[in-house]
Amino acid sequence: MKKLLLAISKGRILEEALELLEKFNIKCLESPHASRKLIIETNLKFLDIMIVRASDVPVYIESGKVDLGIVGKDTLLETSANSHLRLKDLNIAACKLVIAGKKGKILASNMKVATKYPMITKKFFQDKGLPCSVLKLYGSIELAAVLGLSDVIVDLVETGQTLKDNGLVELQLIEKITSLLIVNKTSYKINRQHIDHFLNKIN
Ligand code: PRP
Repeated sequence: MKKLLLAISKGRILEEALELLEKFNIKCLESPHASRKLIIETNLKFLDIMIVRASDVPVYIESGKVDLGIVGKDTLLETSANSHLRLKDLNIAACKLVIAGKKGKILASNMKVATKYPMITKKFFQDKGLPCSVLKLYGSIELAAVLGLSDVIVDLVETGQTLKDNGLVELQLIEKITSLLIVNKTSYKINRQHIDHFLNKIN
């Protein structure tokens, strides 16, 4: 039987995901930090892991080349990929997706909004009946609001420190975020036995 491949999002999710797996006695045979290998075996004979950028996780799952993924709800809300099932909320990497800006800023029509999440942002403002223009950035989104490149930003907040240190405040909660375990729908049918075994181990 083919091995299962689990893609984990880089960064904060990775640290917490590896800790969670270790807690349930699932360990990488090589350190993903030290090794340059892109696919790493685990002590479960049927499971390998790979580490990729968050937004690439749904792409690999959609392709069917990768069976399982650990990815933030923010990334899932932003993707149009739909050939996966959400198996479990892992309750790790908790944070929230918010609209932030200078204190006292009121949300209004035709605002310029900077974000890594154009789809979520467009939908949120549209649902509120507020047309907006979205500026896609790839990091340090707060700078756009600080420099006046945008009226507000849509970004993740974990501790709130980045907003505070840059003189910004949360104006509106969009969504509470945690990381989820997802599976390719076809893989779930074909590899049900191994996937259920993996699920049982982490329950
Ligand atoms: C994320 C997010 C905020 C910051 C929030 O950025 O985009 O900038 O963390 O965390 P805090 O509320 O605990 O301060 P990340 O560190 O992933 O880097 P990026 O801005 O380059 O995306």
